[in-house]
Amino acid sequence: PSAVLTIDGPSGSGKGTISRLVAEKLGWHLLDSGALYRAVGYAASMEGIDLSDAEAVTRCAESTKIRFRDENGETRVIVNGHDASDDIRTETCGAAASAIAAIPNVRTALLEKQRSFRKAPGLVADGRDMGTVIFPDAGLKVFLTASADERARRRYKQLKDKGLSVTLHALLREIQARDTRDAERAVAPLKPANDAVLIDSTGLGIELVVAKVLALLPA
Ligand code: CDP
Repeated sequence: PSAVLTIDGPSGSGKGTISRLVAEKLGWHLLDSGALYRAVGYAASMEGIDLSDAEAVTRCAESTKIRFRDENGETRVIVNGHDASDDIRTETCGAAASAIAAIPNVRTALLEKQRSFRKAPGLVADGRDMGTVIFPDAGLKVFLTASADERARRRYKQLKDKGLSVTLHALLREIQARDTRDAERAVAPLKPANDAVLIDSTGLGIELVVAKVLALLPA
């Protein structure tokens, strides 16, 4: 099977950006697994499904058609034929994704879809359980972290750039609550694979983290 590099970690660790850049440098495919959960959360909301109805959400996860399409160097996410790239990035959709991701059958429904991204010459898989559940045989597993303070600051900057008003303190509290929830949930709790290499990106620039990841790959 083709090479796989998994990059897991919490929200705000920078794994999305790092994964994209590493995939570009290597010329490998990219799996943004969070986008799949967001797409299902989005589809379920559009269909008026009660997100606590595990069976209905599971049927939605099984029937929703999700495609990634490259357009002018950007990846668009097409959900049931409709470009939902911007819709799935909202806070509401993030919360919906996090809720439906806790349903075991939803995770099962997305399993094969995620594995199908493994193609030559290689795949960079970004998520929470890429190294533990989806690609346990990956050649390199990275677990990317950053302090809660740093992640709150990054998020703060992103939201301010978008013109939204929030306080750093509120964001920090939200991030700490999400960390606890993600680590303690019954299915696919966020934790590094036993054979993962931990990288703490606190205080490190993006290019440096990318270089660190690339340096870990066997020549
Ligand atoms: O940007 P952020 O890390 O918050 O979100 P994301 O990576 O787009 O993922 C959205 C949500 O999907 C997360 O809050 C997780 O609860 C869930 N998720 C998951 O359970 N497993 C994955 N492999 C990826 C995302």
